[in-house]
Amino acid sequence: MTEQIDITLTVNSRQYELRVHPSDMLADVLRDQLKLTGTKIGCGEAECGSCTVLVDNAPVLACIYPAPRAAGRQVITIEGLSTEDGSRLHPIQDAFVSHGAVQCGFCIPGQIMTAYALLRENPNPDEHDIQHTLKDTLCRCGGYPSIVSAIRAAAESMNMGEPVLLPSVPLSSDPLYAVGQTHVRPDAVEKVTGTAKFTDDLTFDGMLCAGVKRAGIPHGILKSVDASRAQALPGVQAVLTAEDIPAERNHGLVIYDWPVLVGVDERIRYVGDAVAIVAADNPQILHEALSLIEITVEEIPIISDPVTSKLEDAPQLHESGNLLKHIKVRKGDVIQGFSEAELILEHTFHTPLTEHAFIEPECTVARVLPDGMIEVYVGSQIVYADRSQIARVLGLPEERVRVIGMMVGGGFGGKEDIAGQIHAAMLAQVTKKPIKILFDRHESLLVHPKRHGTQIRIKIGAKKDGTITAIESELYGDTGAYASLGEKVMTRATTHSSGPYDIPNARADCYAMYTNNPPAGAFRGFGVTQSCFAVESMIDMLSHKLGLDPIQLRYKNALEVGSVTNTGQVLRESVGLLECLKRTEECMQTYLKKDVGELKAKGVSEEIGWHADRLFAPRRLPDVPHRVRAWGLALAYKNTGLGGGAPDKAIAEVELTTKGILEVRISSAEIGQGLVTSLQLIVAEVFNHPVDKVSVLLSDTGLTPDGGPTTASRQTYMSGNAARYAASSLKEAIQSTLAEKYDQPPEQIRFIEGLAQVGKHSIPLGDTVAEMRAQGHEPIAIYEYWAPETQPLGQGGDMHFAFSFAVQAAEVEVDTHSGEVHVTRVIAANDVGKAINPLGLQGQVEGGVMMGLGNALTEEFIVEQGIVFTDRLARYRIPAIVDMPEITSIVVEHPTVDGPFGAKGVGEISSIPTTPAITNAIFNAVGVRVDSLPVDQELILEALKAAGNGSSTKEV
Ligand code: FES
Repeated sequence: MTEQIDITLTVNSRQYELRVHPSDMLADVLRDQLKLTGTKIGCGEAECGSCTVLVDNAPVLACIYPAPRAAGRQVITIEGLSTEDGSRLHPIQDAFVSHGAVQCGFCIPGQIMTAYALLRENPNPDEHDIQHTLKDTLCRCGGYPSIVSAIRAAAESMNMGEPVLLPSVPLSSDPLYAVGQTHVRPDAVEKVTGTAKFTDDLTFDGMLCAGVKRAGIPHGILKSVDASRAQALPGVQAVLTAEDIPAERNHGLVIYDWPVLVGVDERIRYVGDAVAIVAADNPQILHEALSLIEITVEEIPIISDPVTSKLEDAPQLHESGNLLKHIKVRKGDVIQGFSEAELILEHTFHTPLTEHAFIEPECTVARVLPDGMIEVYVGSQIVYADRSQIARVLGLPEERVRVIGMMVGGGFGGKEDIAGQIHAAMLAQVTKKPIKILFDRHESLLVHPKRHGTQIRIKIGAKKDGTITAIESELYGDTGAYASLGEKVMTRATTHSSGPYDIPNARADCYAMYTNNPPAGAFRGFGVTQSCFAVESMIDMLSHKLGLDPIQLRYKNALEVGSVTNTGQVLRESVGLLECLKRTEECMQTYLKKDVGELKAKGVSEEIGWHADRLFAPRRLPDVPHRVRAWGLALAYKNTGLGGGAPDKAIAEVELTTKGILEVRISSAEIGQGLVTSLQLIVAEVFNHPVDKVSVLLSDTGLTPDGGPTTASRQTYMSGNAARYAASSLKEAIQSTLAEKYDQPPEQIRFIEGLAQVGKHSIPLGDTVAEMRAQGHEPIAIYEYWAPETQPLGQGGDMHFAFSFAVQAAEVEVDTHSGEVHVTRVIAANDVGKAINPLGLQGQVEGGVMMGLGNALTEEFIVEQGIVFTDRLARYRIPAIVDMPEITSIVVEHPTVDGPFGAKGVGEISSIPTTPAITNAIFNAVGVRVDSLPVDQELILEALKAAGNGSSTKEV
């Protein structure tokens, strides 16, 4: 064993003498020895920048900076920027908070430390300087515009010695007392100071580290598992295989088809299948033990795509076969509809598997309490579903398992399924010691469900005036090895495959197929991302063939109040699609006017390709004519909530404390989207109460009632309503109490700024607690909110209780010499019903656009013959700050009757139309139709070369 080294280093002005291993990295020393857990490990491979700290004032990546090299040096971490108690923030931290640059928060210490280093060197950075410096510091929540504005505001504040200026964000058109007002998220200070606790920041005495032996083979029968050498290794505390599973052997969110551990003579269905789990004293022993477990597998030919999977002679992956679900949509008579059409187009589109790439890898900590209760700590999107799946496998009543949600460093749908929760609980139960399972980036990429890869064929018929008469779609979805949420996701893809249009005749058939690829499940957009790309490309192709303006074609067919969706749902209210379209068009015209004005001022001739009256015309850059710019447009809609007849409820509690704090409790997850602030604002609105005096406790099956899954853009609506009605019930109870005491009619008792107003009496709200108790009531209300009833697909009626709508226009610049595509501007108009929290909404829009941009241009999770190629972050390129376009957010509010103050979901809709807006813009720029994602710049170049003149009509 290599000898350890003694080093002295200074961290945040404090000197430490430490003993380190030569292979230790600075991040290990900071986090494990000094407990400075603000420095985050996102990838461990120098790709994400989350671990950035300063060594002798230069930014370094602590995950690859050898600890011995820090000897004698000065290190500054995120904890060193504010005062020790966090009461006085550094201006950069302050600006990140007030500018809404903090979402999930996991990347934020790295962003701030990089910005801090920049401002030390350059007190007046422009946007280019900031982008250049932060180019390798990734934020998957995508709040890059807010990060830039925060850094600029911090610089100004530091230079002028004045407080940080607040940002300007689009507000609600009708702000109320609290709802619709800008309010910073309460967890932002913890996130900018590094004190926010993510699961990997937890330690317990005697905690063991644990890991999973993965199959590494995509398809076969497991013939043997020999763990004897691992078991014999000193420092190994437990090795468990399928034989050690106490009760149920499978887990799953809808169908229990995913083995906790594959047993001997059972089928391995993808490379990430677990075959054994190990608990050991330290990571070195753990890794050695995992490598000592030997397995033999009888390999079987693999199924690599959903179309092959449906062939009759394909190997069958599950007892039920390879078809997870055949999903059908029927409306009107498509044969008749196509017979009425004067133009029929048909085309097939492909979208790849894609990866959530949340910056925080999965981590679980589990322990057994002295009374046998199992406690599981995890950054999860659905703690109650975790609890039920853990309890089933352990053979325990659900009440004997408590799942405690930690901060979630990004989820986007990828933290809905089980990762390490069950394995950690099993090992804790056996060893009776606390267990931590931390995925490294490689394992994270390998194991968790992806966005479905799809093949989507669309046939569309229209009259010459643009009236669409029929649409037919056929979808194949690659749901991978296990069901996860595949049936639900592909149902959404299918029901949204006619786009946000009222088309009298529609037919869609979708085949969600099992393959030997990693499972596919929930991912922001929930299937609609894929079908929106196909159908919005098709609508643009139709407008081109018909010679109609793409905006006018959409105006003619777009959903509005009174329209009927392809599932037969009549939209009775809250359809802001046309307003989104109108305001996007106006914004494009404003841009065009500005651009034309500038070109005219420079004396540039109109002949080089700009047109004052054509929004979608390509225009060459005057100084670099081989670069061509053009706008593209896309529309989208997306359901809020589960819908489809699924019972959808959320339960919330609101309690008043003697200090006048209203505490909201609900199990829903804050994954960066701003749920905590939305709940604060909603409850504050009910009581006319100061927002800072509303606290929110989330995600703990022991302390918070079930809010249902954090999925389907449902939390603002569902948890918001549950909290709103619980608050209203509590308010009525307080009114009754005071009415009794002061002999006043309850309706005359008002609440103003933390006071109850009873006639001439102004009573601090907290003081009413004693009176309630004196009258035999607890100052607490619980409300079980049930969403309006919905109907299963195929039965007509309301399949969903609300829809959000969006229009996006993207301006791209295509380099005709290289095929390179750059997105320069995006206009994003979203009908969100009511903007509860405009600052949070801004972050959702920025993040949604960035994710859609990555989906269009760079992201592909590559699996070849079941083997994952994109098994490192370096091989999966998500958007960086240098990819950031100028984003204009337009808030449209068509309230929905049942939503809290009219609100509906925004988490997904902001991301869905970005991709087709970009690919449509590419077509408008250079005449190349992209029908397969991500955009292949080489193929664009080839198509352009084939056309010979920088424009083409080829499909790539
Ligand atoms: Fe940057 Fe979430 S705030 S990854």
